[in-house]
Amino acid sequence: MNILVIGGAGYIGSHVTREFLDQGHRCTVYDNLSSGLRENLFPEAEFIHGDIHDYPGLMQAMKGSAKSGGFDALIHLAASKAAGESMLKPEKYSRNNIMGTLNILNAASEIGIKNIVFSSSAAVYGEPEYLPIDEKHPTKPENYYGFTKLEIERFLGWYEKLRTMRYACLRYFNAAGYDVKGRIKGLEQNPANLLPVIMEAACGMRTEIQIFGNDYDTPDGTCIRDYIHVSDLAIGHAAALDYISKNGKSLIVNLGSETGSSVTEVVEIARRLTGKPIPAKIVARRPGDPAKLTASSAFAHETLGWRAQHSDMETLISTSWEAYRRHLS
Ligand SMILES: NC(=O)c1ccc[n+]([C@@H]2O[C@H](COP(=O)([O-])OP(=O)(O)OC[C@H]3O[C@@H](n4cnc5c(N)ncnc54)[C@H](O)[C@@H]3O)[C@@H](O)[C@H]2O)c1
Repeated sequence: MNILVIGGAGYIGSHVTREFLDQGHRCTVYDNLSSGLRENLFPEAEFIHGDIHDYPGLMQAMKGSAKSGGFDALIHLAASKAAGESMLKPEKYSRNNIMGTLNILNAASEIGIKNIVFSSSAAVYGEPEYLPIDEKHPTKPENYYGFTKLEIERFLGWYEKLRTMRYACLRYFNAAGYDVKGRIKGLEQNPANLLPVIMEAACGMRTEIQIFGNDYDTPDGTCIRDYIHVSDLAIGHAAALDYISKNGKSLIVNLGSETGSSVTEVVEIARRLTGKPIPAKIVARRPGDPAKLTASSAFAHETLGWRAQHSDMETLISTSWEAYRRHLS
């Protein structure tokens, strides 16, 4: 297929593009490089330096060039993604996530691109009412970022009805790790997630990490999360696109490892694998942080035949450590 990857120069987008190229698809990356990096681009994929707020530019890109031809599908990863920041700067998230996505949907509708894979998030669920979280769990986002993702899922539902688009909303849990074959060069920019923060501390890019609360109702008192390897996410995108294009049906699906790791466990494994001290300081809890979040990926297995293969904590940490070491050397 010929695929437009919007946000393809970012952390997850570069892995997704790599996977589609590996599977023999053609890809064009559209990205404004606000957090994406040129070093994440591949020579086999055409690159368009563009913004999703530039409607004429987006239309032009979606028409395809003489070189790329018309697109069969688009993957939409471009967004602002920091949950905490979204509570302080909702306007930024309204603009980039909601208005930007409406531009993408309108342009895709005008051009006639029928298959869309969208990066949604486990943040759409909010405080868990039961675990593991499956797709039937109520959606009550606790932060504005999660709200923008849920609204976009709803827009997609309407465009499907009114414009016969098919979509896959992939509700990622905590993305982590780097390409298992070591081919992604750029590091995540301004990370707020645990694994890259630990890696920055291991490399001396920050002096310590902060652990937000150690008095949760979990075995060691620190929060438990479901970490999913970015290579597993990338495989999930290819499976989801295959499903919607072949079955003509849309899909909302979790992508998680179904395993929970506490912050303390992750830090200890990182200390062992890197041989670095990784100083950690216990600080106050963050508002809205549930004690435990784990995914059910039974539906992804049933519909897509997908299961996490690379998401054990040792692989998550060792592939991250390799990427950081390579980058610094
Ligand atoms: N990282 C996670 O754990 C996680 C979890 C759930 C969902 N997601 C979602 O996955 C997607 C990708 O996340 P990521 O971690 O790779 O983040 P990222 O910041 O590395 O990637 C986002 C990419 O989109 C581009 N972009 C942003 N705004 C743009 C705009 N206006 N026009 C054009 N390009 C723009 C950026 O330059 C970047 O390359 C996001 O939609 C995010 O909300 C991420």
